[in-house]
Amino acid sequence: MADEGKILVVDDERIALRNLEHVLKKEGYEVTATQSGANALALLEKQAFDVVLTDLRMEKVDGMQVLKKCRESSPDSEVVVITGFATLESAVDAMKQGAFYYIAKPFRLDEVRKVVAEALGKVRLKRENQELREQIERYQGKVKIITQDAAMQRLLEMARQVAPTDCNVLITGESGTGKELFARYVHFHSARASGPFLAVNCGAFNEELLSNELFGHEKGAFTGAGSDKKGLIETASGGTLFLDEITEMSPAMQVKLLRVIQEREVLRLGGTEALKVDVRFVAATNRDLQENMKSGAFRQDLYFRLNVVNIHIPPLSQRKEDIPLLSYFHLKKFSALMNKDVQDISPDAMALLKVYDFPGNVRELENIVERGVAISTGSTIETAHLPDDLRELAIRTFRRKDGKIPSLEEQEKDYIRWVLQEANGNQTLAAQILGIDRVSLWRKLKRYELEMQ
Ligand SMILES: Nc1ncnc2c1ncn2[C@@H]1O[C@H](COP(=O)(O)OP(=O)(O)OP(=O)(O)O)[C@@H](O)[C@H]1O
Ligand SMILES: [Mg+2]
Repeated sequence: MADEGKILVVDDERIALRNLEHVLKKEGYEVTATQSGANALALLEKQAFDVVLTDLRMEKVDGMQVLKKCRESSPDSEVVVITGFATLESAVDAMKQGAFYYIAKPFRLDEVRKVVAEALGKVRLKRENQELREQIERYQGKVKIITQDAAMQRLLEMARQVAPTDCNVLITGESGTGKELFARYVHFHSARASGPFLAVNCGAFNEELLSNELFGHEKGAFTGAGSDKKGLIETASGGTLFLDEITEMSPAMQVKLLRVIQEREVLRLGGTEALKVDVRFVAATNRDLQENMKSGAFRQDLYFRLNVVNIHIPPLSQRKEDIPLLSYFHLKKFSALMNKDVQDISPDAMALLKVYDFPGNVRELENIVERGVAISTGSTIETAHLPDDLRELAIRTFRRKDGKIPSLEEQEKDYIRWVLQEANGNQTLAAQILGIDRVSLWRKLKRYELEMQ
């Protein structure tokens, strides 16, 4: 457990020093103790401690100097000052200078234990955040797909492998999982990277407009067509065309698109001559394409042309370890965009983010962080800055308000009480919901003294 905390204790009173050293060693920390402030400065020069506990009033080099040195040499660590009644004011000063906490003499050992544990917790959190930030920096390529999930890493690898081949790619996954991001990723890893990447949402236009967008028209093709217009397929030549919400394409359009893919040429509306095009298609949908094919809404031959390679992106709820990473990535982004200095997410807020299901996936997470940065007044996103439906999750966490984790019996008691309430006191119904017989329920009610409620 030694790496759980390196602690430096500085106190010129020998008995107090030994006391502190003893109690902290017993906690399993690696403790260095010294009676001299000057010696403490020398130690801080040579090595980093996680927490420094220092008496304030000492001969020659005092606690304030130790504090100052520590903030300079290892800003990650935390300092707890110990002070007698006479120096209470300087303790307040010390807090202003960045001390984590002050303990008044005579100190209680359990207070020392608690404060040191909290200081260590904060140090650990700072380091974790730092690591996350570094990880994020490393991930910053052209298109930033942030993930540490193994399945996602395999998808990225697959995307990099197919990128240079010109195969059409079909990207599937729930809304907000990053389908468009993957499409860009494929583009930027292909030989077409210097060519255009164009995106079209097939659901955003009616058939006529979509046709005009994709295929363009010749002058006079219809009333109002005053000049020639290149379609997106033509414009994307040499690059990638991203066809979003592909299932929204009408059967007639599907036929036209199929022809473009097969013949590698496009005919403008009203045109007579087919134009050669060199386009890689990446299509995406959050619908079940198999279903659409069964019902006849989507052409099977087009499906096979588009789905040469399938990338299916898992929902965020299936890769929860990405939540902190993505949160900090977007935190940094929005903080910079809004010109604010929000750098952290409190442990409580992070705990809520981690249990939330994110039906809107990464986009929802991004929006939550954006809102958090916007309304946060300090440097940290707290639970108060999260949307209501997320905060309500707090009620569902097992930890009690006082921080205590309940025993199985306590939990069972609470649960039975809740089910009874939900069943309006109807014990037969409650037993049914609980999946036990009435006699067992009755016994439990008696045991937990819940009968009268
Ligand atoms: N792994 C990721 N790393 C960083 N940002 C991501 C990641 N995945 C998604 N995002 C961000 O989440 C948002 C939604 O992503 P994107 O638009 O690619 O999703 P989508 O699957 O196309 O969603 P929809 O189906 O709603 O169109 C974007 O702002 C995107 O930058
Ligand atoms: Mg999209």
